[in-house]
This record gives sequence, C-alpha cells and structure tokens, in this order.
Amino acid sequence: MLADYSGIHSEVLYYVPYGKTHEVWNVKVTNTSDVKRSLTVSGYCEFTNENNYEQDQVNLQYTLFITRTYFDKNRIKQCINENVNKGATINGADAKLRMFALAGAEVSSYCGDKEEFVGRYHSYANPVGVESGDLGNKLNYNLNSCGALATKVELAPGETKEFAFIVGMKPDAEAAALVDSYADVTAKCKAEYEELVANWHKKLNHFQVNTPSAEFNSMINTWNAYQCFMTFIWSRAASLTYCGQRNGYGYRDTVQDIQGIIHLEPEMAVEKIRFMLSAQVNNGAGLPLVVFDFVPGNSGTPDDPEWVKMTGHPAYRADDALWLFPTVYKYIAESGNTDFIDEVIPYANGGENTVYEHLKLAIDFSMNHLGLHNMPAGLHADWNDCLRLGKKGESTFVAFQFYYAMNILREFATKKNDTEYLAYLDKVQPELYDNLQNLCWEDDRFIRGFMENGTVIGSKKDPEASMWLNPQSWAVISGLATKEQAEKALESVHREINSPYGVCVMGPSYVEHAFDGALMLLFNPGTKENGGIFSQPQGWIILAESLAGHGNRAFEYFMESSPAAMNDKAEIRKLEPYCHGQFTEGPESPFAGRSHVHWLTGTASTVMVGCVEGICGMRPDVNGIKIAPSIPSDWKEFTISKDFRGKHLSIKVENPNGAESGYVSLTVNGKLMEGNYIPETELADENDVVLKMS
Ligand code: NOJ
Repeated sequence: MLADYSGIHSEVLYYVPYGKTHEVWNVKVTNTSDVKRSLTVSGYCEFTNENNYEQDQVNLQYTLFITRTYFDKNRIKQCINENVNKGATINGADAKLRMFALAGAEVSSYCGDKEEFVGRYHSYANPVGVESGDLGNKLNYNLNSCGALATKVELAPGETKEFAFIVGMKPDAEAAALVDSYADVTAKCKAEYEELVANWHKKLNHFQVNTPSAEFNSMINTWNAYQCFMTFIWSRAASLTYCGQRNGYGYRDTVQDIQGIIHLEPEMAVEKIRFMLSAQVNNGAGLPLVVFDFVPGNSGTPDDPEWVKMTGHPAYRADDALWLFPTVYKYIAESGNTDFIDEVIPYANGGENTVYEHLKLAIDFSMNHLGLHNMPAGLHADWNDCLRLGKKGESTFVAFQFYYAMNILREFATKKNDTEYLAYLDKVQPELYDNLQNLCWEDDRFIRGFMENGTVIGSKKDPEASMWLNPQSWAVISGLATKEQAEKALESVHREINSPYGVCVMGPSYVEHAFDGALMLLFNPGTKENGGIFSQPQGWIILAESLAGHGNRAFEYFMESSPAAMNDKAEIRKLEPYCHGQFTEGPESPFAGRSHVHWLTGTASTVMVGCVEGICGMRPDVNGIKIAPSIPSDWKEFTISKDFRGKHLSIKVENPNGAESGYVSLTVNGKLMEGNYIPETELADENDVVLKMS
C-alpha cells in the first residue's frame, strides 16, 4: 500500500511469512520534502474478544467480560478467559493470548482499549489518539480490546525509516522472541518476502502459458491459480460472506476444489483426496459436512440424529461422492501414480477399503437410490443446492455425472482386469445411456430432470426454466451426447441463456411456475440459482465447448466471465478484477453484470480445469498426455511450460492458418508422434514439444 501526503511517502507491505502463523506489516516512511519532519506513526488492530466471531458479535453479555490487555515493552498482549484453560490451542496457535507488537522502533505510546483509542464522538476517520499523537497508554479490562502502538519518527530530508507491526496468537516467551527476531527489520522482512515470493513462483511455475491474451495469461498463470490454492485450503469455511462460521468442509465443494491445483501440485492434492475419501460414508455417499475435528472411522452420518443435530445436515446429496471420480482420475493421470487406486483408506463411520472399492461404493450409493425411471434420484440436492427432487425425482446432471463415473471406473477395472465388474458395467451403463437418450433428450436440449410425480423439469415447452445450462455442458463432458446432440445443445445454450457477462444457470427465472422442490424461487429473478449467472458452471461450459472443438466459443465464454476482462467494467461488476465470485446477476436483474461473494467459490477450480484441460488441451491419462488445444482461431501461436511427472515440457503450438481445434502433427524432441498423444515413455527430462494445429 502506498501513500503520498504532504511531503511524506509511506509504504506498507502486509504479508504472512512462508509457513508461519503471524502477520507482518512492514512500514517504510520517507521524507520527500526538503525540511526535517517529526512524525508519530500509529498502528492499530482490533482484537475479537472471543475466538468464535459469531459469539463475539451477538453474545455481548459474555464476550465483553472475558478480555483484558497488558502492555509489555514493545507489544500489547490481549488475554481472553485469562483464569482458565491456560495453554489451550487452536490449530497449533495459542488460543488465549493475542499480540500486536512493534519491531525496529521504540513505542512512544500505546492503547489496549478500543473506545479509548477511537474516542467518544470520534470514528476510525479521526481516532483521538492519532489526532493528538499520544495514544494515552490505556488498557482495557472488560469491554472491547484493541492493539494500538505509536512510535515517534524523526526524518531528515530524503531519509527513510523502516519498522514492522506484528500480529499473532503466541504465548509470552514466544511472542517476545518473535519480536526480537525482527531487530534488523530491513534484512528480516526482505528475506521473508523473498522467500514467500520464491515459494509462490515455484508452485505457479509448474504450469505457465504465454498466449496472445493478456487476460488468459494473467488468470491462468497467477490469479486463478492463486484463487485455486485459496479454495483448496479453505473450501467455503473462512468467509464472513459465505456461511458464517461454518464448522467444516462441504463434501462436493472440497472434492471439486482439489481439481484446481492438480496440474500445479499433485502431491498436495492427493493428501486432501485421501482426507475426502476418508469422509465417505460406508454406504458410498459423501458426508454432507466434514467437521473440522472429523476423525475417520468415528464420525456420525445423516442417519444419526445426534450428528444431524450437531451439523444441521439431515440428508445425503445425490452428487457428493460422484465428484470423487474426476478428481481421483485427474490426480492419477497427472501424477502417473496408478498405485493410488490400491491404497487402503478408512470410511467415515467405520471400515476401510481401497480407493478402487471406495469408488465402486459410490456407484452403489447411486444404484441404491434410483428414482422413477431408474436414473439417480435427486434426493436433498444435486450440485444445485436449490433443487430438492426427493427420493423419486431425478436429476439429469447427476445422471451424466454417474455415466461419466462409470467411464472412469471402466478404465480402472480394465487396468485391474476386474472382469466381473466390467460385466456389471456392461449391463448397467447401457441402461442408463438408453434412459438418458430416450427420456431426457428433447429436440435441441437435455431436460433438467423429473419431479417426484414424473413431471419433466426444463422442458422446451415450459413457460419458465425451459433451458438449463448444466445438463447441456455435462452431456458433453460425460461423453454421452452424440456429436449432433452436442452441437444442438451447445447452440441452444448460446442462443437462449448466454449474456455479455456469462451464461445463466437457467432461464427464464422462476416467478410463477416453480414446483415445490425449486427452492431458488426464494431469489429474485436473475439472481444466484434463479437464473443468475452462476460462476462455477462457466468452467464446465468452457470445457464442454473445448471438448466439442469450438475454441472460439470456449474463449468467448472465458472472456465474458473472466475477472481479468473486467478492468474497464469495474463500475458494473463491482467485484475485484482478479478473483471469481459465486455469481453475477443475469439479464433479468436491473443490475445485470454485478458480481457477488468473492474468493471462496468452486469457480476457481472449474474455470481452471476448463482452461487448462479445455482451451489449452492438456489432457493427461494413465499412460501419457494428449495435447488438444481448443483456442480462438486468431491465436496464431502460443507456448506452454508444463511440469509433468518429474519432467518438463516446453510446448509450442503453431496455428498459422487459424484453426480453432484439431492438429496436423505433434513432435517431441523432433520425433513425430502418432496422433496428438505423447506416451510417457517418449519423455526425456527436458522436452521440446511442437503441435501444429493448421
Ligand atoms: C454454492 C455451494 O457451496 C455449492 O456446493 C453448490 O454446488 C452451489 N452453491 C450451487 O448451488
């Protein structure tokens, strides 16, 4: 953060050192005037009085009376519930002692009481202590604590002084040692920052593109990738705007999030895959919520009233465990670690089995929950939280996922020579195929499903919600749609529900004709699941268009919804131009294009997969990698730098005649490959790969 005011230039660099649990605010103040200046510089942070921030805001008769602050040499220390549970920890950090410290300068005054710091009839715009240059040396005992520290700075013309504020949760001795370790602030902060940058570059450099699109490069190389790591780590659990203080990981979200980092850090991804497999119930379903203190083998399930009471999740979702298939497959294909399929992993509520058997059990769960037409029942929800189709109603989205899951399992079963299971798949998969083809294809679109009474949802004839996005994209992704169906369905999407800011999740929105399980009716038309431009499905439509070979369309969808393309639409979009949000208001809203719920959204991973696997065409499988870009036809050339199974690929794509997909030839280190596929055995440590598209 930079500021210039009245001949003073100030810079603050905020960072969390790599692998550490404290935050540093590295401050540099420079006198750019030609006279000597005397300044007071103050740092301020507001402590919660309770670690549970919801309680902190609503249970004031308690939280205001458990907190007090102390001052010790160069830091404010805040204690909560000081008399009890000494040494208690949260995620390895001291749960009861918080610190706000100053390193590299002397404290001239301090304050630990929020009201004293701000001052009666003052606000954050003019805190009384900052105005006067003296923070008053008051501490709190009850009511609201804060950390405020001031230092006096004398600056000759042109002179710079540097110091750092440090925030953390540390016991006394550790806090003191930590502050001391910043005695040489300049050197320490520089080294820490360089280490942080180097580590991020190391992660991100596993996959870098250089295309003619600055927006694409910026998202894929940096910002989308960064957001993928954020969602990978936090799922939806650390957001003030998402679910409040959510007490765990949602199954589908977390399994999907993993996909966004597989091409960058497959070994980091597999740790979380193991964790999510261990949260699979031994009836094959995913646990709707994996609580933070979840212990595999010991968990309750939606079948246990106590667990339901604790989590608030009374029922299984139709789709949760089906997300495991693409995630496990993508990991094995990226890493080449085929042994993973035989790794034994526990179930959430007892028992254990191999990854292969976990996946079979997920198939069993769907087979044991079939609806009216022998397709998977929609249950409490599918991907769409607002679709409650019940035990008899059916979701085509889940049916496509199910079909796709069977394709993946077929590949694993073939590898393992599991003839019995292959015979089973040979029986059930064609039945599913026939049902989807015979009952769910309507002229130029796939329907969304069936209500419990068998009424079609998403028929062309419906007055509302007659076109749904996900069944069209997933018909293609799953490999079920014929070429003709794919062409028609994708075209219908573009014609009926596309907008300048992305594709609506369905349209027209429900207003008068919703059915009982259509919970999206709660939302205004053009909003969220009710005809909004839900961001997550943008990645799937990008992928589907790419798989269909429509590079221009895929890129059009990328640009419509890409944060990086919003710099000159900031007044419409409102959201940061570098991160995806959960949804954008659709054309039926008077604020079409306005986006909401930033950072923690599955969009990060779906768009990343759509771009890497779809547009860039990086399609690894168990034995190697296919290179099949689907690009805008005006990309005449682009390059990709990719690490793959411990080797490096420098890929150059040449497209002088403006194709949007397809290939003429592929060479690896000068050797012509068969088709556009590189068997792993052809790879040296360093590889020059040239794909000619036209
Ligand atoms: C947000 C939820 O976190 C996610 O699980 C769900 O798939 C989407 N909403 C769509 O309803």
